[in-house]
Amino acid sequence: MNSLLGELREVFSAALESAFAEHGRGIDPLIKHTADPALGDYQCNVAMSLAKRLGLTPREVADRLVEALSMLLQRGPAPFVLQVAGPGFINIRLKREYLESCLNATPPEQPSDRLGIATVPTGRRQTIVVDYSSPNVAKPMHVGHLRSTIIGDCLVRVLSFAGHEVTRQNHIGDWGTQFGMIILALWHLFALRRRGESTETFVRRTTELSNPLQRAATLAQIAAEHQAELDRDVDGREFYEFLRAQRFQYDELLPAYQYVNAVESAAEGSDLRIVDPRNGQAVPLASVSNHVVAMLQRGSDADEQELFAWRTAVQSSLRRCTEIYERLGVLLRDSDVRGESFYHDLLPGVAEELSAALAEPRAGDTSAIRAVCRVDRGALCIFFEKPDGTPAFKGPQGDSLPMIIRKSDGAYLYSTTDLAAALFRIAHPTRRPIRLRSAALAAGLSAKGGGLGADRIAYVVGAPQKLHFEMLFSALRALGWADGVRLEHVMFGSVLGEDRKMLRTRSGDSVLLVDLLDEAERRARALVDENEPKRAEMGLDPLSEDHKRRIAHAVGVGAVKYADLSQNRSSDYVFSWPKMLAMQGNTAPYLMYAYARLRSIARKAGTDSHAAVDAAPIRLSHPAEVALGLKILQLPETLDAVGESLLPHLLCEYLYELSARLMAFYEHCPVLKAENAEVRASRERLCGLTARALRIGLELLGIDVLERM
Ligand code: ARG
Repeated sequence: MNSLLGELREVFSAALESAFAEHGRGIDPLIKHTADPALGDYQCNVAMSLAKRLGLTPREVADRLVEALSMLLQRGPAPFVLQVAGPGFINIRLKREYLESCLNATPPEQPSDRLGIATVPTGRRQTIVVDYSSPNVAKPMHVGHLRSTIIGDCLVRVLSFAGHEVTRQNHIGDWGTQFGMIILALWHLFALRRRGESTETFVRRTTELSNPLQRAATLAQIAAEHQAELDRDVDGREFYEFLRAQRFQYDELLPAYQYVNAVESAAEGSDLRIVDPRNGQAVPLASVSNHVVAMLQRGSDADEQELFAWRTAVQSSLRRCTEIYERLGVLLRDSDVRGESFYHDLLPGVAEELSAALAEPRAGDTSAIRAVCRVDRGALCIFFEKPDGTPAFKGPQGDSLPMIIRKSDGAYLYSTTDLAAALFRIAHPTRRPIRLRSAALAAGLSAKGGGLGADRIAYVVGAPQKLHFEMLFSALRALGWADGVRLEHVMFGSVLGEDRKMLRTRSGDSVLLVDLLDEAERRARALVDENEPKRAEMGLDPLSEDHKRRIAHAVGVGAVKYADLSQNRSSDYVFSWPKMLAMQGNTAPYLMYAYARLRSIARKAGTDSHAAVDAAPIRLSHPAEVALGLKILQLPETLDAVGESLLPHLLCEYLYELSARLMAFYEHCPVLKAENAEVRASRERLCGLTARALRIGLELLGIDVLERM
């Protein structure tokens, strides 16, 4: 099955060239779906934009173009009827016979069916990196990361289906200052366990610390206890053993982490200190976690324990993420994880490279944003300038806002890691070698295999990071690393509660993903149980318990995914259970039901007639059949549009429209009770094609279809 829009573009482009020679060559013919289907199926608006340049009226341009088209199509039967309207729009109506021949040319169903939709030709096949999900493993994954996971996964499926080489990257936050806190939290858990206390202690103390009257006494007690515990296990052997034997629950990590946070912020400004028994160094109680990070980043043999604690913390929280991925049925695997820590040894080289390569603005390109890297108040920064010399990014006071690469205390930032990650993703030893000035960076990169060689990178990250990505992309272009590479921030809005504020639980906490999925399945199950009497009424067999559970899972997860994907991702969306689980409207249950109903028709028609049905010619005699047939044939162009714009809601809209046309078809065109065998076979085949289009579409959204519902 070819793209109708693609073929139209091709003929129109050829006609443009033959009518207007070099003025018409290589011009986008601007073909779109018509707003008003009464006028035609597509519309070509190129005449308006070409007229001025040709010194003709748009009407004249349109007439000449139509004439050129009829010359071009002289040999075969024309696939469409054209009509010039208004100032110079060309309305295009595809002929019924043409639609029939396209439908009839569709190959029979195959395993991993694709309705005969071709992949992109080898020359246009790209290596695409999709960076998605990317939670911060120090914290439990929440609803915000759900959007990235669901949207990113759909894009991976659509781009892979198109035939591109897609590499998933889960850029987890597994490095940085918060890890000092995590390791410290693990250590406090260990000390707590040794004293035979429960995490209740953390909660109690956190409350005491928030009370100004108790704060000082509690802090002093905490410091003394901390010192005593540390001195009891100087070489850290017991702590190591605790970690190795995994003597803690993941759920205990959060209260411990919050406790560490509370202690450090309460200790701010106090002179309480902890003495490291290994070297006698006195560390302020307020910054013990920084001390731990410093040891972690040094990564020497003496700090092996910190490294081990870090690895333990990352792994235990990653396991939680994996459980959620499995439940959601997304494609992410452990092997897709390439977190921030993967790049940390490249960061000094990145700083060196930027200082050398961006000491002066790159000569040549005068239209682009210029970037200069220099030290400002002790910090290494990139400053961006527009071609007219004004700042490209401004702070609240209107001053130039830099991208900070290295803070005055020597710490690298999120941005620095993203520059290193981008280099790794773009560079390739043979396909895209990048000349680097920093020998350290070049060596580090080649030690990691030399890079992925991406032609396109999609970062599926929330809208609050818009500025970060604008700066990142500007820096990459100024460095010349991104020449010929398409960089996209696939932005999305927030998930809101019905009060239009950020989604929260009743007690005001942020909603956990596991709870959300539990609730989705519970509600979907209620729906299945509710439908039970209706099934009985329709004379259908009762469903087994196991089957009901499978339906509840597929519908629950499908509804959550679809609710997210069906919205234009750039806007916020309101999370509503009744809306996403409704059996009518633009919802997963509605589409899944449309599919199951088609499958039930096929079963009733008799499965052994498959081959006969595939051979039966499709005749589109009723307007509802024409409308349905046309929609089926628009699947390829819809997938092209999603791959181009990275907007999954276009696919949802398509599927919803397809189902709506199917309902209209049912109303006017009996299938099993059709007037004769030919009509019946034609309609069965049309139903079969609809089911295949629905299934392909839903699966590309990451939604499992059900044969029965
Ligand atoms: N961990 C980050 C966050 O939760 C998202 C990372 C997105 N990817 C990237 N390359 N910056 O905010």
